[in-house]
Amino acid sequence: MERYTGLIDKYRDRLPVAAGTHAVSLNEGATPLIELANLPRLLRRDVRLCAKFEGLNPTGSFKDRGMTMAVTQAVEGGARAIICASTGNTSASAAAYAARAGIACFVLIPEGKIALGKLSQAMMHGSVVIQIRGNFDDGMRLVQDAARSVPVSVVNSINPYRIQGQKTVAFEVIEALGDAPDYHALPVGNAGNITAHWIGYSESAGADTLALKLPGGMREYRRQKMVERRPIMLGYQASGAAPIVRGRPVENPETVATAIRIGNPVSWQQAVAASRESGGWFAECTDEEILHVQKLLAQTEGIFCEPASAIALAGVLKDLELGKIGAGSTIVCTLTGHGLKDPDAAIAQSAKPLTVDAELKAVERVIREYLPKS
Ligand code: F0G
Repeated sequence: MERYTGLIDKYRDRLPVAAGTHAVSLNEGATPLIELANLPRLLRRDVRLCAKFEGLNPTGSFKDRGMTMAVTQAVEGGARAIICASTGNTSASAAAYAARAGIACFVLIPEGKIALGKLSQAMMHGSVVIQIRGNFDDGMRLVQDAARSVPVSVVNSINPYRIQGQKTVAFEVIEALGDAPDYHALPVGNAGNITAHWIGYSESAGADTLALKLPGGMREYRRQKMVERRPIMLGYQASGAAPIVRGRPVENPETVATAIRIGNPVSWQQAVAASRESGGWFAECTDEEILHVQKLLAQTEGIFCEPASAIALAGVLKDLELGKIGAGSTIVCTLTGHGLKDPDAAIAQSAKPLTVDAELKAVERVIREYLPKS
């Protein structure tokens, strides 16, 4: 078997990359599609529920799929620096891929509002971390303005190469299932990822979509029809940051799921087009619902995702309850980021460690107390 060297090498003929272009890669992609075996049984739901665990990408989130494309093309175009606004994961990924490429990286993050793991990544990979006294939407505006006056290449998802890289998640789901699922659920923040999923599924079905048009200047590539159908797309937003659900921007978005704390998504129109074309919908979950399902998933299936990622499953469980998703369906949830990204959120909702003397008796006592009673 040939060694896996990342998604550009694997899907080069389905991506706008020239044959000779060197891929800046950390072997991203090829994440597992894990069937959730315990949850449907526990909740008495007759569905096939799968998690596409994107937290197992090299920097711990799906952003690496887009970043390998964006940085590869930035380097190909002669860029010496990249820039992004971020709620955390984009900055971690941009910093890592810039380090790999030997170029500079500037990240704008909302002060005090990004998870610790993500901040540590951006710092450790040597990017210039600029905390702004504002939120992600302010950062997004500043990055676009800055790119007009200083020589930096923007690697947020307004960069079409990001979306192109991220569409490969749909290819992998189809390869794993042998078909498209009935439903595909994911969190929606800046709305690039739902757009990318839909493009990937549409290309795989040989179908057109409003969101699919390649912007001018991007090279064409060969499309491959792999399946006959596309899934229904389900996009979930946190109640305190749900502009698409409400149909208007949210000025001061707030949620425990800091990754999707966004009030005015850049890919709003494309996301709405994707949802509408698929026959899907957007819905919201509260912070309590998000955290409850994050813990449920960790404790019943052994999968630790970050709060923003858990909203995909929280939304699906709610829509199953409401009867909006039918029995017998195959449902894929994208778990966008690893739980280790946000240790504070995990520790805050978990039982405190027990401290005992370093003696057998003390340890035995605890074991006896907590041993399952048969
Ligand atoms: N899940 C996680 C873990 C994220 O980090 C993000 C976005 C999303 C979901 C939403 O994806 O923006 O494509 O709709 N994070 C961006 C960032 C905004 O800066 O890291 P989206």
